[in-house]
Amino acid sequence: MLQACTQYPDKIENNINDSIQFSDSLINKLSLEQKVALLHGMGGGNSEFGDLDVRFFGIGGNEDFGIPPFFMGHGITGVRSGRDTSIHATYFTTPIAIGCSWDTELYNEVGTAIAKEMRALGQDLSLGPTLNIIRHPLGGRNWESFSEDPYLTSRMGVAYTKAVQNNGIVSGPKHFVANNQETNRFDINNEVDERTLREIYLPAFKAAVKEGGALNIMGAYNRVNNDYMCHNEYLLDSVLRGEWGFGGFVLSDFANGVKDTKEAVDARMNVEMHRPKYYSDSLINLVKKGEIPETRIDELLKDVFIVMYKMNLFDRERFEDKQVIRSNDHLATARKVAQNTPILLKNEGILPLKQNELNSLAIIGPNAKPYASLKSSHANYAYYLQGGGSGRTYYFHNSVVDPFTGIGNAIREEMEVSYAQGAKTPNQYARNKELPIDEEDEKHLSKAIKVASKAETVVLVVGLSGFNESEGWDRNSATLPGMQNKLIQEVSKVNPNTIVVLTSGCYIDISSWVDDVKALLFVPYCGEQIGNGLADILTGKVNPSGKLPFTWVKDVDDYPKGSIFRGKEYTEKGISNLYNEGIFVGYRWFDKQNLEVQYPFGFGLSYTQFKYEDIHVDDSSFPIRVKAKVTNTGSKFGKEVVQLYLSAQNPTIEKALQELKGFEKVGLAAGEAKTVEFLLDKDDFAHYDVTNSTWAIEAGTYEIRVGAHSRSLPLTSKVTLPNEILE
Ligand code: BGC
Repeated sequence: MLQACTQYPDKIENNINDSIQFSDSLINKLSLEQKVALLHGMGGGNSEFGDLDVRFFGIGGNEDFGIPPFFMGHGITGVRSGRDTSIHATYFTTPIAIGCSWDTELYNEVGTAIAKEMRALGQDLSLGPTLNIIRHPLGGRNWESFSEDPYLTSRMGVAYTKAVQNNGIVSGPKHFVANNQETNRFDINNEVDERTLREIYLPAFKAAVKEGGALNIMGAYNRVNNDYMCHNEYLLDSVLRGEWGFGGFVLSDFANGVKDTKEAVDARMNVEMHRPKYYSDSLINLVKKGEIPETRIDELLKDVFIVMYKMNLFDRERFEDKQVIRSNDHLATARKVAQNTPILLKNEGILPLKQNELNSLAIIGPNAKPYASLKSSHANYAYYLQGGGSGRTYYFHNSVVDPFTGIGNAIREEMEVSYAQGAKTPNQYARNKELPIDEEDEKHLSKAIKVASKAETVVLVVGLSGFNESEGWDRNSATLPGMQNKLIQEVSKVNPNTIVVLTSGCYIDISSWVDDVKALLFVPYCGEQIGNGLADILTGKVNPSGKLPFTWVKDVDDYPKGSIFRGKEYTEKGISNLYNEGIFVGYRWFDKQNLEVQYPFGFGLSYTQFKYEDIHVDDSSFPIRVKAKVTNTGSKFGKEVVQLYLSAQNPTIEKALQELKGFEKVGLAAGEAKTVEFLLDKDDFAHYDVTNSTWAIEAGTYEIRVGAHSRSLPLTSKVTLPNEILE
């Protein structure tokens, strides 16, 4: 769907010629060795990822020539500088939580705030956002992704890229491309057909580059169709630069992205991270032997200098005002995230809590409070209420408002509150290992049962942590680790008013208990204000408005077989990870199979109700204008995500039953109505025509569907289009 025009900074647009001249003249002054030294990361040491605890990632610079270091940090949750665990910033969100919000304005606010904190901590580039599609619910980095859907992922990638680049930080969408699982992450060959690449895995990168103006891309570790992504000339050079007009530079994923100097250089992969392996002596030697022309080195470096010039890196101060870090404004933004991302999946009238009628509340569960064994000195203390791996931020110790504290802050003083941990904490099941039930388990459970049976209502806070879902490996099971399922079953037996709060960054199998509980609130890891946001929703101060960015299946085996690859490393057996489900990823697959799901893509309840009526379509020319009226028919203010899907009627080529092509989050007072307008461009109707290597519209009728989620689309209208080949 067409979006309002970009807010690309003038600075970037207007100085292209200056930046070229500047870069050329600087390059002319440098020797081959000096140039090559600027084409690799500044990490040292022998460990795979360079020095552990290194304060900054990035390119070293060259003081003699006035070239500053180019610092690259993480900024998808909050700021993380290098591997330094002592550098802290506001923990704003996780990408999956942003996916749950369906709120691009909110993400713009978050991206702006993160960029300011990155600048305060001396960073120049954000190693992100992660634009990889959730292909399978057990993927270790799902919490770092936005969605199973390319359109939703695209909108978020564009919002973030514009926000950070407008605030002085280069955006580096990653991991380009088809990086959808962690098992064998350094040595896997993903066989993806061209149409699937174009329609599912590439669109978010294309949007970040073409609409968002991303100035950096990180090449993934994996191979796509036999070529390592950091050597992949077709995707890096022909598609990214040639077709999309990418004007920035490419970074390799760290430590293991590049495996061959010449192949990477030929693909115009600019900078090897994080320490010199292939882009140092071997590169110099290849140039000296005449196998790589020195002009190619100049070209690689020029791409980097142009970006540095455009972003003013040669002139600006390294550190901006540190006052922004955890400023009141930023904490308010974090609270907004925590209020707008939880998804109410089930509610049998128990929520919001009727505080005046309620005298006692039990808060139970291993995720209700920080894990006792993770004191602030523990390197992985920040795995609590956050996923694991490089994307996480080392939040300030004790900055996270845990659910117990948040709820305590929000309920009336006279309420009697009791607590039980209920089960061992998820960190004790690192990588979801199974442990035999022991005395400690029994003790936790019996205390929880006692506490639950005495209270009028129970809030049961269960879930995962960065110890259970992380970069580096995929989950081996979709169930809650440890005794948590049993805890929910036993507590709900003794207390019929049990509300489950599920905190994780991904799908969990809830089938063994969901029918027995009164309410279920999915709370993605949503930043340091998580407990306050949760309490705002439980008490009704805020109406939940999150919607599922992935399908909540009944059984993880409902996913296409082989869509998570557990085989050997590619070099060992030569067996590839086949993307055989093709374009049928996420809801596209469940629709095709006509499978009942637990909660459909786009689903989420509210404390109010919304009515959809009056669809009006003006298809006299492109963009096609679709208007739909939505009314809040309940008695509370609420936000609704109005969703638009397109469905080709009787196509001759295989297509998804329907595809998301537009959404808008609207806030409506009780009784208020709003007409939402969507603009549909030709691209929205197109499929990728592999035979002619082009996008094309197939002649025929297309149904436009508007409603509250992918399986509730009451407003429909049809348009008929002729065959058309698009550019
Ligand atoms: C990850 C990247 C990350 C980099 C630096 C790699 O292992 O795949 O996402 O940006 O490390 O931490």
